[in-house]
Amino acid sequence: MVEKKRRQREGEGSGASSAWHLAGGSAGQTAAERRAARAGAAQPTPGPVPTDTLVAKPAAPRRLLTRRTFVLGGFWSGLAMSVVGMIGAPLDFMWPRKVKGFGAPVSVSARRIPKPGADPVRIAEGRLWLVNLEPGQEGSPGGVLALYQKCPHLGCTVPWRPEFEFAGSKGWFRCPCHGSTYTKGGILVFGPSPRPLDTMKVEVQANGDLIVNTGQITLGGADDPLRAVALEGAAVAASGPRLHFEREPIDLGSVAIGRTEERTIEFHNRGNEPLTVKVVRWGADPDAPATCGCGVEDVVVEPEVVEAGGRGMLRVFVKGLEGMEGMEDNMLVELESNDPTSPQYGLKVQFRMAS
Ligand code: FES
Repeated sequence: MVEKKRRQREGEGSGASSAWHLAGGSAGQTAAERRAARAGAAQPTPGPVPTDTLVAKPAAPRRLLTRRTFVLGGFWSGLAMSVVGMIGAPLDFMWPRKVKGFGAPVSVSARRIPKPGADPVRIAEGRLWLVNLEPGQEGSPGGVLALYQKCPHLGCTVPWRPEFEFAGSKGWFRCPCHGSTYTKGGILVFGPSPRPLDTMKVEVQANGDLIVNTGQITLGGADDPLRAVALEGAAVAASGPRLHFEREPIDLGSVAIGRTEERTIEFHNRGNEPLTVKVVRWGADPDAPATCGCGVEDVVVEPEVVEAGGRGMLRVFVKGLEGMEGMEDNMLVELESNDPTSPQYGLKVQFRMAS
């Protein structure tokens, strides 16, 4: 009990002491100092002063290029450039490219083909001479032959010499280097050359043009003239305009009764000069019995001039006549052209009147 009272006294004393301290007092202060402290304790504490000062944000950390990164980058870059340098040039050399001109198929227009038996024509882009042999010439079946211009002896370019006379006749391939002499068909007749002129593969196109494969060369032999390729349509292409229809008679199909319908008939110029075609008349085909030849109303040629190797057409206007249902009409359209082989041309045309 006594102890409890002692603690209470000490607690009261402590509280008084704390209040005294809060009031700013201390044991060593003068009275004036204590008054000043109490006056200061009574003043309100000032708040934060408003300000416009900008506050800097922390910058992101910078990534630094380290010496290790720099050295490694230099090493790999140098290695990559070395590899490209080593394989780039051989790769570029071996890379396949589209070959044009000599070494590849070369197209030769029909108009450049010489006439049968005429002087050879030089096809410079293919490094060849184009020869057109007549049937029986040098034992040939007749046709075109592509002779490689390179002399089999030492490789000089062999010209065609139309005025050069040898063994009593003019016109030979004569090598200027050592005098090897060849016939128009490429056969060696004189000189140090080991063989006749080499030949190239020739293909004849439907329009009379040629494709000479200058990458496909066959060594010359005694059979050179036999390698001539028949021209068929192209054989006549080199000697003026040529009128050609793909097939005859031409069937125009069925025509409705009471109506005029247009049909077109295509033709080709297989010659080497412009072709002109003119319609003279049309009527019943005299070779076809029981036909009236009365269904054609008009025939028009377009264009007026067809270039060498080009195509034109006949516009035919036909009418189905009443009272002739189911009948067939056979017409003969007579043409004139500047084709010297057939200046008058009778074109047979047929069609049916619808039922
Ligand atoms: S190169 Fe032609 S004869 Fe010698």
